[in-house]
Amino acid sequence: MTAPFPFDPESIRPDFPLLQQVVNGQQLVYLDNASTTQKPEAVIEAICHYYRCDNANVHRGSYALSDRATCRFEQARLRVQRFINAACQEEIIWTRGTTEGINLVAQCYGGQVLKAGDVVLAPTMEHHANIVPWQMIAARQGATLKAVPVSNQGEIDLDAFAALLKDNPVKIVSCAHVCNSLGTVNPIETIIKMAHAEGAMVMIDGAQGISHWPVDVQALDVDFYAFSGHKMFGPTGIGVLYAKKELLDAMPPFMGGGEMIENVTFAKTIYNHLPFKFEAGTPNIAGAIGLAAAIDYLNQLDRKATAAHEASLLAYTQERAHDCDGLIPISRAKHMAGAFSFNIEGAHPSDVGMLLDQQAIAVRTGQHCAQPVMDQYCIPGTVRASFSIYNTHAEVDRLFEAIEKVKMFI
Ligand code: ALA
Repeated sequence: MTAPFPFDPESIRPDFPLLQQVVNGQQLVYLDNASTTQKPEAVIEAICHYYRCDNANVHRGSYALSDRATCRFEQARLRVQRFINAACQEEIIWTRGTTEGINLVAQCYGGQVLKAGDVVLAPTMEHHANIVPWQMIAARQGATLKAVPVSNQGEIDLDAFAALLKDNPVKIVSCAHVCNSLGTVNPIETIIKMAHAEGAMVMIDGAQGISHWPVDVQALDVDFYAFSGHKMFGPTGIGVLYAKKELLDAMPPFMGGGEMIENVTFAKTIYNHLPFKFEAGTPNIAGAIGLAAAIDYLNQLDRKATAAHEASLLAYTQERAHDCDGLIPISRAKHMAGAFSFNIEGAHPSDVGMLLDQQAIAVRTGQHCAQPVMDQYCIPGTVRASFSIYNTHAEVDRLFEAIEKVKMFI
């Protein structure tokens, strides 16, 4: 047996100023990392420094300050390229977040390839952001969005997926790397191979995957991979769409405006080259710089060790849940990361969330923007505890002590 990787979350907790705060008279236990992660000082400082010292518009000015801002902005893109091992910088498109990345692919790629009768597949467990954009484009093109069934264990039914792939002219498969509501880690390597074998392209919603382990888009051979800065210690309002260059080259632009053009007359516009063709308007420069600082922060950690730590937090939570009377686990997949969803017998999840908040435990409750899977389980929602590298086993203990008190109120 290999020895466990040593990682002490206490060694990084001082990097995250927000974690030090007291809520309702007690030390905050922040277990809503699947919604958004807290930010290390290095990210906060990078954003402040940019506004204090480097703020100017990018790719436009003929003065030193603008050159410096442009340089820092493009260096951020390079950091992202290396972080996910994209083949070139042209494959890195800045977005506002994962939702925008998926909408971009649905509108620009889906709008280009989907014809009447074509099919898009997405598992039932998807976030609304990976359902609604496909429904919108499918309706426009006369195509159909079909759900890939998910078992009551919260795992994609790969046999049903194989049958759906064979049965129809499937053009696009879109799937979460990690399910936001259940924490299931989907077998995306297998899904990508199966889809490609049938000629379908694959979009991965990486919002919940990217913060847990290194992602290598070339090794995955994924066509599109979208993620958000704020779920990996970066700021809100910045995200990344990775796409294979040949696909981006062939796709029409998403929005029109400045920056995405090379030449404009009232008769005709020639679009800019990649990646700018997809970046109309002034970008979120500070956001990109903040995201690069988050990448630098992650890169100086031992990521195998942090992943092992997160896995151990989840395993400990499952163990405690198993021994907790009246707790109904909703997350039951074999391979999970980051999030654990549950309910308490006889209690509405939002009441549980409120009673946990009174004890300074921050969790998300409700449908988690994933109504179809909640409907499948016939539940109004769940209580979701989601973990990050800075959480501790003592915080899991605090959660379960608080759950015992909740049970006394219901
Ligand atoms: N998509 C985020 C979540 O799952 C907001 O909480």
